[in-house]
Amino acid sequence: MPKCEPVLLARVGKPDSASLATYQRDGGYEAFKKALKMSPEEIINEVKTSGLRGRGGAGFPTGLKWTFLPKNHAGPIYLAINGDESEPGTFNNRILMEEDPHQILEGIMISCHAIKSNTSYIYLRVEYGKSYRVLKQAIEELYAAGLLGKNILGTGFDLDIYLHRGAAAYICGEETGLIESLEGKRAWPRIKPPFPAIEGLFRKPTIVNNIETMACVTHIINRGADWFKSMGVPPDPNNPRDAGSYGPKLYCLSGHINKPGCYEIPLGVTSRELIEEYGGGVPNGRKVKAVVPGGISMGFMSADELDIPLDFNGPGKAGCLGLGTAAVVVVDDATSMVDVLFNCARFFAHESCGQCTPCREGTAWMQKILWRIRSGQGELRDLDLLTEVAGSMGIIPGTTICGLSDGAGWPVKNAIQKFRPEFEEFIKSGKKVIRHAEELMAAAH
Ligand SMILES: Cc1cc2nc3c(=O)[nH]c(=O)nc-3n(C[C@H](O)[C@H](O)[C@H](O)COP(=O)(O)O)c2cc1C
Ligand code: SF4
Repeated sequence: MPKCEPVLLARVGKPDSASLATYQRDGGYEAFKKALKMSPEEIINEVKTSGLRGRGGAGFPTGLKWTFLPKNHAGPIYLAINGDESEPGTFNNRILMEEDPHQILEGIMISCHAIKSNTSYIYLRVEYGKSYRVLKQAIEELYAAGLLGKNILGTGFDLDIYLHRGAAAYICGEETGLIESLEGKRAWPRIKPPFPAIEGLFRKPTIVNNIETMACVTHIINRGADWFKSMGVPPDPNNPRDAGSYGPKLYCLSGHINKPGCYEIPLGVTSRELIEEYGGGVPNGRKVKAVVPGGISMGFMSADELDIPLDFNGPGKAGCLGLGTAAVVVVDDATSMVDVLFNCARFFAHESCGQCTPCREGTAWMQKILWRIRSGQGELRDLDLLTEVAGSMGIIPGTTICGLSDGAGWPVKNAIQKFRPEFEEFIKSGKKVIRHAEELMAAAH
């Protein structure tokens, strides 16, 4: 995999990288000035031509999403920026927000001009205190410099950007849950259609885009669509639904790895390259047992699947849900997949918002069955039961409102399919790795 000159992370770690002065010294806001001279349609075309796909998890083409807004809409259009970053293992948005907020803000300003929006909200999870403080200061600097507010640079373009802190739940990152939360309500995802581009925030047309997506927009306008498209992977001819995977991507590497971190690499790096070339291998000379390709909701790749490219199309070839957030979590061969899967199930059972019965009950059942297995009382048929429950909940089987449920089912399906002998051996051994809640309670008294 050819390395690329870092662009998204280029300013990370530089002294005073978050200030407007240093950003402008490094050429910042030239892309915005360029965009102000372009028509909204020209900007949208440039973003479409670049092949940019949203970095928040679903990989939807950004320029195409913008075209879903109603034409010549008289009322307000909103741009809601998703900084919830709730997918386990994902921390690229936080690094961008803390270290180079103006790169994101410039992308937001360009995007607002493109979609004819005069108001943008950045939604942040509440734990991201530093991101909030840094972004707040950066926005204040922009107002003071006349780059936000009324009649920006005398062009007649008005724009306000607001920061909004959520209560920190996984579901706040789902775009319609985020919209509900922005409106001051509980983050219960909405039934779609209508999609947010038609009826979103305050029931007005709204685009929801991720933080990293906004950073990419800045560089696409600055360097051009061809530059962006010169990196990555073209569409898979065997998959008519694949729109290609272009541009640089921030891969988050964590778990059993010598050098965890956030790495900027063109889309299409393999897990093996990431682990060996960037992450310095697995600690203590251990081997890889499994890899999460892009947040735990995407499922698991096995050690035999490490050479599959981590582009938008690749993980699907290994039976995973997708690339997700490109948060790669490495599991070494000393780790029990029974434990790993139990932790995943516990997370999703906790985070289900409870609106849809298959998700509310299904996530809880999966957690209970895995608890039973871990407490030495599992039966072999539990594995089929888990697979059946996991396969019957979600948007894909058509039983729920949002994709949290699909994400909860995928690691279960993958783990049992790919690591079944380990689960069977565990059940047959009658091993007990945890005590029952009652025993734990009794021990505590
Ligand atoms: C349960 C769930 C959680 C999500 N969490 C996030 C998140 O934290 N950040 C994010 O950008 N997208 C998240 N998404 C995806 C968003 O719904 C949406 O697709 C994305 O913000 C759109 O931005 P993009 O097109 O720029 O990727 C989540 C989706 C689901 C189903
Ligand atoms: S799928 Fe789950 S998280 Fe999503 S709306 Fe339904 S109950 Fe809530």
